[in-house]
Amino acid sequence: MAKPRTVFVCSSCGADAPRWSGQCPSCNEWNTLAPFAEARARGTSRREASGGERPAAIAQLVTEPEVRMATGFAEFDRVLGGGLVPGSVTLIGGEPGIGKSTLLLQCAAALAQDQAVLYATGEESVRQVAERARRLGVGTDGLKLVAETALERILDATDGTGARVLVIDSIQTMSVANVDAAPGAVTQLRESTAALVRHAKSRGTSVLLIGHVTREGVIAGPRVLEHMVDTVLYFEGDTHSSFRLIRAFKNRYGAVNELGVFAMTEKGLKGVSNPSALFLSQHGTEVAGSCVMVTQEGTRPMLVEIQALVDEAHAPNPRRLSVGLEQNRLALLLAVLHRHAGIAAFDQDVFVNAVGGVRITEPAADLAVLMAIVSSLKNKPLPPKLVVFGEIGLAGEVRAVQRGQERLREAAKLGFTHALIPKANRPRQAIPGMEVWAVERVDEAFARVR
Ligand code: TYD
Ligand code: MG
Repeated sequence: MAKPRTVFVCSSCGADAPRWSGQCPSCNEWNTLAPFAEARARGTSRREASGGERPAAIAQLVTEPEVRMATGFAEFDRVLGGGLVPGSVTLIGGEPGIGKSTLLLQCAAALAQDQAVLYATGEESVRQVAERARRLGVGTDGLKLVAETALERILDATDGTGARVLVIDSIQTMSVANVDAAPGAVTQLRESTAALVRHAKSRGTSVLLIGHVTREGVIAGPRVLEHMVDTVLYFEGDTHSSFRLIRAFKNRYGAVNELGVFAMTEKGLKGVSNPSALFLSQHGTEVAGSCVMVTQEGTRPMLVEIQALVDEAHAPNPRRLSVGLEQNRLALLLAVLHRHAGIAAFDQDVFVNAVGGVRITEPAADLAVLMAIVSSLKNKPLPPKLVVFGEIGLAGEVRAVQRGQERLREAAKLGFTHALIPKANRPRQAIPGMEVWAVERVDEAFARVR
């Protein structure tokens, strides 16, 4: 056997470097390189990777219809792209206490009705997990538990029980024997994940990995983990509210913009199949600084309230803060507001928030954000039962968004009577009960609701 070679691995990007330096040559981060004795692990992985598979014609390979396993949650299946794919590796990230273990325990129990499932935990005892399963009212003979952190033993147990689905709670607690590093270290994460991916691909076992996130909200570990697995999901939400969202960040087997909505109850998580009115706060009377938008996350329109608070700044640098919306986009919108509508906010603190802990990434929120800001600045509520959507360009134009019709129909269904939207999204046929104000420019939008 060759003598172990020492390489240096970056804790940020996971790249190897032959010698230590203060800065990673690959991602340019400082002080991220750590030594790693490269033992047999990599040799085996290379041998296995070049395992002598013959090239095959694609037409012969795709004749079998694709099989998907139902996870017991229609919401989760949709985010996965129609259920769990055999042999796939899925990484689910989320903050502590958000409900990752609960979700996967419920899924494991549902999957265990049709096939053997192994739930491996490195965080709790089997008794604790079993107790939780009992409280959740789940658990079948097909679901086996093991409290273990040595990955080789978990993989042996997977083979021993003939499990078709393996849950790892969490990847940060697992270690492989031939890597000389503590669990959670970059090299351990990388080699443990590599071993799980090899196992999944060679046996056709589906692997669900739980991953902790860092303070910045990304999965703890090198970015290479995201490249190694097939699907990366984020489980998010405001721990103060009972709603939880699953969002696909990467998916080799489905669309990435799907969103699954759940509610945390005393009996575990429940899917919310009609979440469109979830993110509206209930005001008794109309308030300034509030504007309802329709966002289209994946295949479903959802109504979300955007709130803004604009207040006189007392520091030379006024504050710009956004929660659930992009920070840079806010600065850009304020510049457009000044330049193209003559409304200045340079001496004001501006705070914006998407209600209910939802995160909106699409620019269709632009117009609603500006309407909320102007409403707060002027301390004048927007007309009741109004929905707003539209992207704003740097020239002050209001640009079309995707699926305008669906958004309008959803708003009409929920009792909204007026819509302020981009001209290019004006419906060809009138929507019953909905008066549409279609605008081309931002100043036109403000004039419309005055
Ligand atoms: P958990 O799945 O342990 O979170 P994670 O694995 O992401 O750290 O869930 C933790 C929270 O969920 C805990 O604070 C209590 C709450 N919870 C419920 O509200 N209802 C339930 O049925 C369960 C099992 C948990
Ligand atoms: Mg947990």
